[in-house]
Amino acid sequence: MPKESPSREAATLDSRLKRLGRISDERGVTTRTFLSPAMGRASALVGKWMRKAGLSVRQDGVGNLIGRREGPGTGSKTLLLGSHLDTVRDAGRFDGALGVLLPIAALEIVGRRGIVLPFAVEVLGFSEEEGVRFSSAYLGSKGYTGKLRKSDLRLRDPEGICVGDALARHNGRKTPLPRAAHAPGELLGYVEAHIEQGPVLEARGVAAGVVPSIAGQTRARITFVGSAGHAGTTPMRLRRDALAGAAEFILEVEHHARACPPLVATVGCIAAQPGAANVIPGRVEVSLDVRHPVDSRRRAAFAGLQLAGRQIARRRGLSFSVEVTQDNRAVACSRELTALLARSVRSRQGSCPAVPSGAGHDGVVLSSLTPVTMLFIRCRKGLSHHPDEYVHPRDLAVGLDILVDFLARLASLHAR
Ligand code: GLV
Ligand code: MN
Ligand code: MN
Repeated sequence: MPKESPSREAATLDSRLKRLGRISDERGVTTRTFLSPAMGRASALVGKWMRKAGLSVRQDGVGNLIGRREGPGTGSKTLLLGSHLDTVRDAGRFDGALGVLLPIAALEIVGRRGIVLPFAVEVLGFSEEEGVRFSSAYLGSKGYTGKLRKSDLRLRDPEGICVGDALARHNGRKTPLPRAAHAPGELLGYVEAHIEQGPVLEARGVAAGVVPSIAGQTRARITFVGSAGHAGTTPMRLRRDALAGAAEFILEVEHHARACPPLVATVGCIAAQPGAANVIPGRVEVSLDVRHPVDSRRRAAFAGLQLAGRQIARRRGLSFSVEVTQDNRAVACSRELTALLARSVRSRQGSCPAVPSGAGHDGVVLSSLTPVTMLFIRCRKGLSHHPDEYVHPRDLAVGLDILVDFLARLASLHAR
């Protein structure tokens, strides 16, 4: 860890992250979900900081916050920088937020140092990346890139509200499927800074690294249906207990993933109905999240788990159904942009680890529009999706130096 104290700009960034982290839909914890009241307050605050950095600010039809500064000429290309402003439930304050606030701080420094950028910049605070409300991630970046589909609009939250209706409420009118904000030829690329969310950088003793690739991921909602009944009067052998079937399935998911590293598979949500201590559960919904760096292995694992679930259900007299809510291929980051970013990392800290991402990022969707590069910043104990998520202000300072250096290098590459 570098010994010098963090820069004034890094201290400001740290205090902004703390302020943003206090904006929540739930008292005492950090939770912000797609189009929620807290997301509105977060966008207002971040929009204020964007304006202070000289960006003009707008929100698009899916709630993405967009801060833009024009380039020197009418034909200037645009560099995109950003991440998401939504969070998981009871989240930390860095996942997503860092990738929005770091570029704002970097652009302030670029301005103060008089570094001329021969391109336009857009800082993006995506409205949805975590998939908390609708069990499907990337609604914000899909809207921005024109990849939102009618099937996305039909997704329902736990209260039965579909994405289309949530957007209509938010915008005060029926919202058409958005078009891409840019044609690919208008863009230079997309840069996403993010906490690593894993332990590799900490183990290597460095603050930052680059990301060669992002693992593919499949998410699904899985339903077991049996028969609800009296917990006191129904003999064990006459039951069709949907929760017992789901429990067997969950253990099978764990067993299968353990046997096939680097496959990871997670059941993170479970809802049992009718949900009473003295009633046999008749219907259970579980989430399933499957990830692997190799798409064919992920697909094979998902197919195998569906088969296992069906067999468990059949043996127990249950019905079994699967609704795929998300399916993203693995993404390779841009070699050229990442090589340039790695130069900035090396010039700041000597070495530059390449750390593949097991987590999903907005860059996955942006890669359909423009080359993508990602900067990872060390987080304490590799902890993320947890309120104790932490980045030391000295590492924020390193991240800031790297991003400013990267912008300067890109500027000299594109200088006329
Ligand atoms: C996003 O954080 C994900 O990888 O689930
Ligand atoms: Mn994230
Ligand atoms: Mn996350």
